[in-house]
Amino acid sequence: MPNEIEQVALRAARAAGRIHLKRLSRITISRKSNSLDLVTEADRESEAEVIAMIHRAFPTHAILAEESGPSRHESDHLWIVDPLDGTTNFAHGFPMFCVSIAYQRRGRTQFGVVYDAFRKEWYVAERGRGATLNGKPIRVSTTESLGNSLLATGFPYDRRERRRFYLTFWEAFMLRTQGVRRTGAAALDLAYVACGRTDGFWEFGLKPWDVAAGGLLIDEAGGRISNMDGSGLDIHGGNLVASNGNLHRPMIEAISGARPLAEQRQLEMQRDSASMP
Ligand code: IPD
Ligand code: CA
Ligand code: CA
Repeated sequence: MPNEIEQVALRAARAAGRIHLKRLSRITISRKSNSLDLVTEADRESEAEVIAMIHRAFPTHAILAEESGPSRHESDHLWIVDPLDGTTNFAHGFPMFCVSIAYQRRGRTQFGVVYDAFRKEWYVAERGRGATLNGKPIRVSTTESLGNSLLATGFPYDRRERRRFYLTFWEAFMLRTQGVRRTGAAALDLAYVACGRTDGFWEFGLKPWDVAAGGLLIDEAGGRISNMDGSGLDIHGGNLVASNGNLHRPMIEAISGARPLAEQRQLEMQRDSASMP
């Protein structure tokens, strides 16, 4: 992979992180799809900066970025950018947020960086060359059973309407593990699995920019990441399981086992609220 790709990705991530820290003390919030889906000046400013830097270095490459969507032209070279992952945390001054930048060639992620500017933590992966945290190689955990595991998850922005569905999986894992965390930044959740701080992660309704860089971190740190049925990860698919590998099958089994109850509870809730006067 050309060195320039890596340099531009790291430079753009650094610039985004600088904006996060600068903006953290004076946040202006607006809303996107609903009252839970927030966007701040930091999202917009860091995205503009990242796009400008990529564009300046590689004018012909395509970019898919959360706030501005896909660039108008197509290319074999695609950059996937979440300028600020963990916006709700950021908007409350809760220090769990990052920037995530991935570079894909012909649909395959070749390079990914997740940068947590608050902790000065750089998670970097290059296909075939491993994953690092602040320059040191990282590996997934060696935990062998769900009973000894710590997992993480997140809830998408329709979490109020579909709470019964999502909470059923939370309950299933709460019963099977030592703990479940909801950190509020999916790209960092994936980075934490990659470096062994957690043993696994699942979430519904994710977007490509949440997943592209973190997915490569998991691959390169020796873990597994897949769709919820175990098939090869489709970053546009939304629903995924990531793990240290050992826990992959038990996690998928727990999710498929809980799904009928989750759907039933969700339907009951909808029926109850429809019959309310
Ligand atoms: C969100 C975070 C959160 C996850 C949501 C994402 P954003 O991204 O990653 O952890 O649960 O599904 O949309 O909006 O903060 O970039
Ligand atoms: Ca995100
Ligand atoms: Ca975001």
